[in-house]
Amino acid sequence: MMPNKPLIIAHRGAKGMAPENTLAAFRLALSQGCQGIELDIHLTADDHIVVCHDSTLDRTTNGSGAIVNQTLMEIQAYDAGGWCADEYKGEIVPTLDEVFELVPQTVMINIEVKNAYSGRIECKLIDLLRQRGRVEDVVISSFDHKCIRRIKQMEPRLKIGLLYQANLLDPVAYARGFDVEVYSLHPQFQMLDAEDVQQAVAQGLRVYPFTANSEKDLSRLMEMGVSGIITDFPCRMKELVDAR
Ligand code: G3P
Ligand code: CA
Repeated sequence: MMPNKPLIIAHRGAKGMAPENTLAAFRLALSQGCQGIELDIHLTADDHIVVCHDSTLDRTTNGSGAIVNQTLMEIQAYDAGGWCADEYKGEIVPTLDEVFELVPQTVMINIEVKNAYSGRIECKLIDLLRQRGRVEDVVISSFDHKCIRRIKQMEPRLKIGLLYQANLLDPVAYARGFDVEVYSLHPQFQMLDAEDVQQAVAQGLRVYPFTANSEKDLSRLMEMGVSGIITDFPCRMKELVDAR
Protein backbone atom coordinates (compact mmCIF):
# COMPACT_ATOMS: atom_id res chain seq x y z
CA MET A 1 0.00 0.00 0.00
CA MET A 2 1.27 3.49 -0.90
CA PRO A 3 1.83 5.53 2.29
CA ASN A 4 -0.06 8.81 2.70
CA LYS A 5 1.52 11.82 1.03
CA PRO A 6 3.93 13.50 3.45
CA LEU A 7 3.45 17.07 4.59
CA ILE A 8 5.65 19.61 2.81
CA ILE A 9 7.19 21.71 5.60
CA ALA A 10 9.14 24.75 4.46
CA HIS A 11 12.30 25.17 6.53
CA ARG A 12 12.60 28.80 7.76
CA GLY A 13 10.27 29.51 4.81
CA ALA A 14 11.57 28.67 1.34
CA LYS A 15 15.08 29.10 2.73
CA GLY A 16 16.74 27.75 -0.42
CA MET A 17 15.36 30.63 -2.51
CA ALA A 18 14.64 33.56 -0.16
CA PRO A 19 16.06 35.13 3.02
CA GLU A 20 15.31 32.66 5.81
CA ASN A 21 12.69 33.42 8.45
CA THR A 22 11.32 36.52 6.68
CA LEU A 23 7.76 37.17 5.51
CA ALA A 24 9.09 37.01 1.94
CA ALA A 25 10.37 33.47 2.53
CA PHE A 26 7.07 32.39 4.10
CA ARG A 27 5.06 34.00 1.28
CA LEU A 28 7.18 32.20 -1.32
CA ALA A 29 6.78 28.87 0.48
CA LEU A 30 3.01 29.30 0.60
CA SER A 31 2.93 30.11 -3.12
CA GLN A 32 4.90 26.91 -3.76
CA GLY A 33 2.27 24.79 -2.06
CA CYS A 34 3.78 24.04 1.35
CA GLN A 35 1.41 22.67 3.99
CA GLY A 36 3.64 23.52 6.92
CA ILE A 37 6.20 26.18 7.86
CA GLU A 38 9.08 25.67 10.25
CA LEU A 39 10.51 28.76 11.97
CA ASP A 40 12.72 29.67 14.94
CA ILE A 41 11.92 32.05 17.78
CA HIS A 42 13.76 34.26 20.26
CA LEU A 43 12.67 36.83 22.85
CA THR A 44 13.71 40.49 22.55
CA ALA A 45 14.83 42.70 25.44
CA ASP A 46 11.28 44.12 25.64
CA ASP A 47 9.61 40.67 25.57
CA HIS A 48 8.46 40.38 21.95
CA ILE A 49 8.79 37.05 20.16
CA VAL A 50 10.77 37.45 16.95
CA VAL A 51 11.50 34.95 14.20
CA CYS A 52 15.19 34.37 13.65
CA HIS A 53 17.42 31.30 13.66
CA ASP A 54 20.55 32.64 15.36
CA SER A 55 20.63 34.26 18.79
CA THR A 56 22.47 37.19 17.19
CA LEU A 57 21.59 39.42 14.24
CA ASP A 58 24.99 39.33 12.55
CA ARG A 59 24.51 36.62 9.92
CA THR A 60 21.00 37.39 8.64
CA THR A 61 20.69 41.18 8.98
CA ASN A 62 22.82 44.27 8.51
CA GLY A 63 22.75 44.72 12.28
CA SER A 64 24.71 42.95 14.98
CA GLY A 65 24.56 41.78 18.55
CA ALA A 66 22.33 39.53 20.60
CA ILE A 67 18.55 39.64 20.11
CA VAL A 68 17.97 39.35 23.84
CA ASN A 69 19.78 42.67 24.40
CA GLN A 70 17.79 44.72 21.88
CA THR A 71 14.24 46.02 21.65
CA LEU A 72 11.84 45.11 18.87
CA MET A 73 12.10 48.64 17.44
CA GLU A 74 15.88 48.40 17.31
CA ILE A 75 15.78 44.94 15.70
CA GLN A 76 13.19 45.86 13.08
CA ALA A 77 15.27 48.86 11.98
CA TYR A 78 17.74 46.40 10.42
CA ASP A 79 17.51 44.92 6.94
CA ALA A 80 17.00 41.16 6.96
CA GLY A 81 16.83 40.53 3.20
CA GLY A 82 19.59 42.42 1.40
CA TRP A 83 22.27 39.90 2.45
CA CYS A 84 20.41 37.30 0.36
CA ALA A 85 19.58 39.27 -2.81
CA ASP A 86 18.83 42.89 -3.77
CA GLU A 87 15.21 42.05 -4.52
CA TYR A 88 14.72 41.25 -0.83
CA LYS A 89 16.11 44.54 0.53
CA GLY A 90 13.63 45.98 3.01
CA GLU A 91 12.64 42.68 4.60
CA ILE A 92 12.75 42.84 8.39
CA VAL A 93 12.97 40.34 11.22
CA PRO A 94 9.27 39.56 11.70
CA THR A 95 7.47 39.00 14.96
CA LEU A 96 5.68 35.69 15.38
CA ASP A 97 2.45 37.67 15.49
CA GLU A 98 3.19 39.11 12.03
CA VAL A 99 3.70 35.56 10.75
CA PHE A 100 0.29 34.59 12.14
CA GLU A 101 -1.26 37.46 10.15
CA LEU A 102 0.28 36.07 6.95
CA VAL A 103 -0.09 32.30 7.33
CA PRO A 104 -3.60 30.81 7.18
CA GLN A 105 -4.64 28.50 10.00
CA THR A 106 -4.86 25.61 7.55
CA VAL A 107 -1.06 25.64 7.28
CA MET A 108 0.72 23.98 10.20
CA ILE A 109 3.35 26.20 11.83
CA ASN A 110 6.21 24.32 13.48
CA ILE A 111 7.65 26.74 16.03
CA GLU A 112 11.15 25.83 17.16
CA VAL A 113 12.04 27.40 20.50
CA LYS A 114 15.68 28.45 20.62
CA ASN A 115 17.49 29.53 23.78
CA ALA A 116 14.73 28.83 26.28
CA TYR A 117 17.14 29.29 29.18
CA SER A 118 15.36 32.32 30.58
CA GLY A 119 12.03 30.48 30.95
CA ARG A 120 10.25 33.71 29.92
CA ILE A 121 9.76 32.75 26.31
CA GLU A 122 7.46 29.82 27.19
CA CYS A 123 4.97 32.09 29.00
CA LYS A 124 5.05 34.73 26.27
CA LEU A 125 4.56 32.10 23.57
CA ILE A 126 1.57 30.50 25.26
CA ASP A 127 -0.04 33.92 25.89
CA LEU A 128 0.33 34.83 22.23
CA LEU A 129 -0.99 31.50 20.95
CA ARG A 130 -4.07 31.80 23.18
CA GLN A 131 -4.71 35.43 22.18
CA ARG A 132 -4.51 34.56 18.48
CA GLY A 133 -6.46 31.28 18.67
CA ARG A 134 -3.46 29.32 17.39
CA VAL A 135 -3.00 26.80 20.20
CA GLU A 136 -4.34 23.85 18.27
CA ASP A 137 -2.77 24.42 14.88
CA VAL A 138 0.92 24.72 15.75
CA VAL A 139 3.56 22.16 16.71
CA ILE A 140 6.16 23.36 19.23
CA SER A 141 9.58 21.73 18.94
CA SER A 142 12.99 22.22 20.49
CA PHE A 143 16.31 20.49 20.99
CA ASP A 144 15.67 21.44 24.64
CA HIS A 145 13.29 18.66 25.67
CA LYS A 146 12.79 20.01 29.18
CA CYS A 147 11.55 23.25 27.62
CA ILE A 148 8.90 21.57 25.48
CA ARG A 149 7.81 19.38 28.35
CA ARG A 150 7.30 22.55 30.44
CA ILE A 151 5.30 24.07 27.60
CA LYS A 152 3.04 21.02 27.33
CA GLN A 153 2.51 21.05 31.10
CA MET A 154 1.55 24.73 30.95
CA GLU A 155 -0.84 24.29 28.00
CA PRO A 156 -1.87 20.64 27.50
CA ARG A 157 -3.74 21.38 24.24
CA LEU A 158 -0.44 22.12 22.50
CA LYS A 159 1.28 19.53 20.30
CA ILE A 160 4.96 19.05 21.04
CA GLY A 161 7.74 17.60 18.88
CA LEU A 162 11.15 16.25 19.90
CA LEU A 163 14.05 17.57 17.85
CA TYR A 164 17.20 15.45 17.97
CA GLN A 165 20.46 14.93 16.15
CA ALA A 166 21.70 11.82 17.96
CA ASN A 167 21.08 8.32 16.67
CA LEU A 168 18.75 7.28 19.49
CA LEU A 169 18.61 3.56 20.25
CA ASP A 170 14.82 3.56 20.45
CA PRO A 171 13.15 6.91 19.60
CA VAL A 172 9.64 5.57 20.26
CA ALA A 173 10.55 4.36 23.75
CA TYR A 174 12.23 7.71 24.41
CA ALA A 175 9.08 9.60 23.38
CA ARG A 176 6.85 7.27 25.37
CA GLY A 177 9.08 7.81 28.42
CA PHE A 178 7.86 11.40 28.70
CA ASP A 179 5.22 12.11 31.33
CA VAL A 180 3.35 14.25 28.79
CA GLU A 181 2.04 13.29 25.36
CA VAL A 182 4.53 13.69 22.51
CA TYR A 183 3.01 14.41 19.11
CA SER A 184 5.97 14.14 16.76
CA LEU A 185 9.60 13.15 16.28
CA HIS A 186 11.88 15.56 14.39
CA PRO A 187 15.11 13.63 13.75
CA GLN A 188 18.04 14.76 11.65
CA PHE A 189 17.18 12.94 8.43
CA GLN A 190 20.53 11.16 8.05
CA MET A 191 19.85 9.29 11.31
CA LEU A 192 16.53 7.87 10.29
CA ASP A 193 15.87 4.32 9.15
CA ALA A 194 12.68 2.72 7.88
CA GLU A 195 12.21 0.63 10.98
CA ASP A 196 12.22 3.71 13.25
CA VAL A 197 9.63 5.34 11.01
CA GLN A 198 7.36 2.29 10.93
CA GLN A 199 7.48 1.85 14.69
CA ALA A 200 6.80 5.51 15.37
CA VAL A 201 3.92 5.79 12.92
CA ALA A 202 2.40 2.54 14.24
CA GLN A 203 2.44 4.13 17.70
CA GLY A 204 0.63 7.23 16.46
CA LEU A 205 3.68 9.49 16.37
CA ARG A 206 4.28 11.81 13.41
CA VAL A 207 7.80 11.74 11.98
CA TYR A 208 9.10 15.02 10.52
CA PRO A 209 12.82 14.68 9.61
CA PHE A 210 14.98 17.75 8.88
CA THR A 211 16.47 19.12 6.61
CA ALA A 212 16.37 17.15 3.36
CA ASN A 213 16.82 18.95 0.06
CA SER A 214 18.04 16.70 -2.74
CA GLU A 215 15.59 14.70 -4.85
CA LYS A 216 17.38 11.55 -3.76
CA ASP A 217 17.01 12.26 -0.04
CA LEU A 218 13.43 13.50 -0.34
CA SER A 219 12.44 10.39 -2.32
CA ARG A 220 14.16 8.03 0.11
CA LEU A 221 12.36 9.58 3.08
CA MET A 222 9.03 9.43 1.28
CA GLU A 223 9.60 5.73 0.58
CA MET A 224 10.15 5.20 4.31
CA GLY A 225 6.67 6.59 4.97
CA VAL A 226 7.55 9.70 6.97
CA SER A 227 4.66 11.99 7.93
CA GLY A 228 6.32 15.12 6.56
CA ILE A 229 9.72 16.50 5.55
CA ILE A 230 11.30 19.78 6.60
CA THR A 231 12.97 21.15 3.47
CA ASP A 232 14.58 24.33 2.18
CA PHE A 233 12.97 23.64 -1.23
CA PRO A 234 9.22 23.13 -0.87
CA CYS A 235 8.82 23.52 -4.65
CA ARG A 236 11.14 20.55 -5.28
CA MET A 237 9.31 18.38 -2.80
CA LYS A 238 5.92 19.42 -4.24
CA GLU A 239 6.93 18.11 -7.66
CA LEU A 240 7.95 14.76 -6.15
CA VAL A 241 4.80 14.46 -4.06
CA ASP A 242 2.57 15.34 -7.00
CA ALA A 243 4.30 12.74 -9.19
CA ARG A 244 3.49 9.89 -6.78
O1 G3P B 1 13.40 22.14 13.07
C1 G3P B 1 14.30 21.52 12.24
C2 G3P B 1 15.58 22.27 12.07
O2 G3P B 1 15.29 23.59 11.78
C3 G3P B 1 16.48 22.21 13.28
O3 G3P B 1 17.74 22.74 13.05
O4 G3P B 1 19.49 24.47 13.13
O5 G3P B 1 17.92 24.42 11.23
O6 G3P B 1 17.15 25.15 13.48
P1 G3P B 1 18.10 24.26 12.71
CA1 CA C 1 14.85 25.44 13.11
